[in-house]
Amino acid sequence: MKKSIISPMDITVDELGALMDLADDIMKYPEKYAHACDGRILATLFFEPSTRTRLSFEAAMLRLGGKTMGFASADSSSATKGETVADTVRVISSFADICAMRHPKEGAPAVAAAHATIPVINAGDGGHHHPTQTLTDLFTIRSLKGRLDHMTVGFCGDLKFGRTVHSLIRALVNYTDVRFVFISPRELTIPDYIRNDILIRENIPFEEVSRLEDVLPRLDLLYMTRVQRERFFNEEDYMRLKDSYILDKKKMSLAREDMMVLHPLPRVNEIATEVDSDPRAVYFEQVRYGMYIRMALILTLLEIKVD
Ligand code: NCD
Repeated sequence: MKKSIISPMDITVDELGALMDLADDIMKYPEKYAHACDGRILATLFFEPSTRTRLSFEAAMLRLGGKTMGFASADSSSATKGETVADTVRVISSFADICAMRHPKEGAPAVAAAHATIPVINAGDGGHHHPTQTLTDLFTIRSLKGRLDHMTVGFCGDLKFGRTVHSLIRALVNYTDVRFVFISPRELTIPDYIRNDILIRENIPFEEVSRLEDVLPRLDLLYMTRVQRERFFNEEDYMRLKDSYILDKKKMSLAREDMMVLHPLPRVNEIATEVDSDPRAVYFEQVRYGMYIRMALILTLLEIKVD
C-alpha cells in the first residue's frame, strides 16, 4: 500500500479486499486489536468542519489503544497566521505517527503528503475526494449485500460538488458489471472529468436523469447526498435546489425489497425521517462500518500486524 492515501486510486482492488478482510476481523475480535496502537499518536488536522469523519478517526485510534490530538477548525490552527499546509505538516510529523487531514482546498492533502514524513490520510479536500468515506461505503455494501459487482447504482442529489460521490464512482468502476444512474437537477450533474475521463473512457454504462421515481424500481443501491451549501456561489441557487429530492415512504414503495439506501451524512432534508425505520435504510449502520475500516487503514499504514 502507498504511504499516504489521498484518492481512492491509491488503493488497488486487492489492497481494498485485504483492508475489508482486516476490518471484518476487527469487528469480530475487537479485543485482539485493543492495544495494537499502544504508544502511537494520530493527529486530526481539520481545516474544515466535520463531526463524523473526525470523530470516526479518533474513535478508530482510541479503540486500537492509541492516542489522538489535533484541531477541528482552521481558526484554531496557525493557518490563521498564514502558515502553509506544507509547514504545518512538517511540524506535525515530529509529534504524531500518522495524520488525517480535511481541507477546503482541493489538493491540499496531496501537498501535505509530499512534505510529511508520516502517512497522511485525506479526510476530504474541497469538492474533490474523500477516500475513507469511499472505504466506508464499499465496506458497508460488501458486508450487507455480499458483493461489489453486478449492480445498478443510483446516485441522487448534488453530484457536482459531492466529493463522496466522485470518490465512490472512481472506486466502483473497478468492479465487473456496475452500471450507474445519476439523478440530479441539471445544475448539479457529475463533473465533466468524471463523465469523460472515467465513465466514457472506460466504457462504463451510465445514464443521467432528473426524476428519482422513474428509475427507483431498477436500483440495487441508492446513494443519497445533501446539496453542498458551502460550495455554492450564491444562496439563491442553494435555496432553489436544496429540496430537489426528498426520499420518503411513498418513493421507497417503488423500490425493490433488497435495494439499499446509503448516505454519507449529515442528512438535511433529502431523506424523510420516516424512512429511517425501513430495513433498507442503512445509513446509520454505515457509520459503524466506517470506524472499523478506518481502524484497518490505520493499522495497515502504520504497518502493524496483529496475529
Ligand atoms: C461528507 C463530506 O464531508 O463530504 N460527510 C462525511 O464525511 N461523512 C458528506 C457531506 O458533507 O455532505
